[in-house]
Amino acid sequence: MVKKFPNDFWWGAASSGPQSEGRFNKKHSSNFDYLYDTRPELFYDNVGPNTASNFYNSFREDIKLLKDIGFNSARTSIQWARLIDDFETATLDPDGVRFYNDVIDEYIKQGIRPVIALNHFDLPVELEHKYGGWLSKHVIELYVKFARKAFELYSARVVDWFTFNEPIVVAECGYLYQYHYPMIVDGKKAMQAAFNIQVASAKAIEAFRKYNENPAGKIGIVLNLTPPYPASTIEWDMLASFHANLFKNRMFLDPSVLGEYPKELLSILENDGVIWDASNDEYQVIKENTVDYLGVNFYHPFRVKSPEISADALATDWMPHRYYDHYEMPGRRMNMDRGWEIYPQALYDIGINIKENYGNIPWFVSENGIGISREERWTDEQGVVHDNYRIQFVTEHLYHLHEAIEAGSNCFGYHMWTPIDCWSWCNAYKNRYGFIATDIRTQIKTIKKSGHWFKTVAETNNLNVPKDISDKFVK
Ligand code: BG6
Repeated sequence: MVKKFPNDFWWGAASSGPQSEGRFNKKHSSNFDYLYDTRPELFYDNVGPNTASNFYNSFREDIKLLKDIGFNSARTSIQWARLIDDFETATLDPDGVRFYNDVIDEYIKQGIRPVIALNHFDLPVELEHKYGGWLSKHVIELYVKFARKAFELYSARVVDWFTFNEPIVVAECGYLYQYHYPMIVDGKKAMQAAFNIQVASAKAIEAFRKYNENPAGKIGIVLNLTPPYPASTIEWDMLASFHANLFKNRMFLDPSVLGEYPKELLSILENDGVIWDASNDEYQVIKENTVDYLGVNFYHPFRVKSPEISADALATDWMPHRYYDHYEMPGRRMNMDRGWEIYPQALYDIGINIKENYGNIPWFVSENGIGISREERWTDEQGVVHDNYRIQFVTEHLYHLHEAIEAGSNCFGYHMWTPIDCWSWCNAYKNRYGFIATDIRTQIKTIKKSGHWFKTVAETNNLNVPKDISDKFVK
């Protein structure tokens, strides 16, 4: 079976500044740089962000490799701590300006559309220490100054902008689950950070409308949408699923696209005493500055059941998951290396949800992928990784994405995570996601079998779905 995608469909992959560039010539440290400098033992094999995949030094060769595997678009992020010299005044770091200039020019020269995010989990650590990071209203203003500088410098050449990547991860991992610096557990702070980032996103969009120099320019936000699937249709599981959707998806999706928070979410936060400090002006800015389009990161579904522990337990930290528990569905299909369920059908559900509940706003898959350990297991004598599992993973996801497009969902592209194996935060280089392998000792980069396969899909807009896959899914 062959699935035909639209002619102008975006084909490519996403990475980010902190995960690919390395810290070369970056005067300031971001939160993850600081965490590595102070607690290297938290990182897999003690590998930090210092070299990453060396994009700072090898971006021309790297971008050429992306061209070699058929990309017409690619996302990366501008690091605040690299572009800006003085955060208060947003004066520029000349080498940072030059670097992103050269990167953007190189993408365009190679015929690849640069898609730029302004934040990918990174925050200059001095803003954390001085002001409390995303808990501070002042930091919102500093972020907007940085965003404005980026628009003034690059919007004549960059059409596609995104304010934040997965903002919920910043709030959850920094203030609830202790995966990101400042690694604290405080529900009220988590909700405040989530709200402040939403305001920052809206204010950056407002600045974009003023300072963007490109009539074709568009701005959006990248959200990790994780559809909740209830363990059963019993009322309490259904309620848990409704709540999981509020916290995991709608907390950013509704204000970003519709300009308003779900009233059920506000009333829960109010009742639980964890509602954010917000002004009417801030709600107004959110209302008036919704996105032009959406990036959707999708890795795994979220199966939920009613919570095991009563919300009335004593001396517990406030956690959103007092309203739902993770349900370990027997027989689920797993990527064991990352511990994530594989459920490509969710891409169809995401597409239909956007169509039916979010005005069918244009969107693209901004990340999707499979992180596998010890990929050298599948390397041949020429050094090529035969990652058939990745080809199957992407084929299955594209199959269901295509179904959503056929059902009228307004999806305009598919980006995999990631083009070239890159540094994965605390997991460092444990799991590899790329179409292109990186040897982290030599920085030699080699296209995997999946990269060669992707080139054909991207260049023809045709997805060949083998019978064993289509047989599984055809309704
Ligand atoms: C996404 C992030 O959540 O998932 C990426 O935007 C990240 O930055 C990717 O690398 C894969 O997750 P992980 O934790 O395996 O690197």
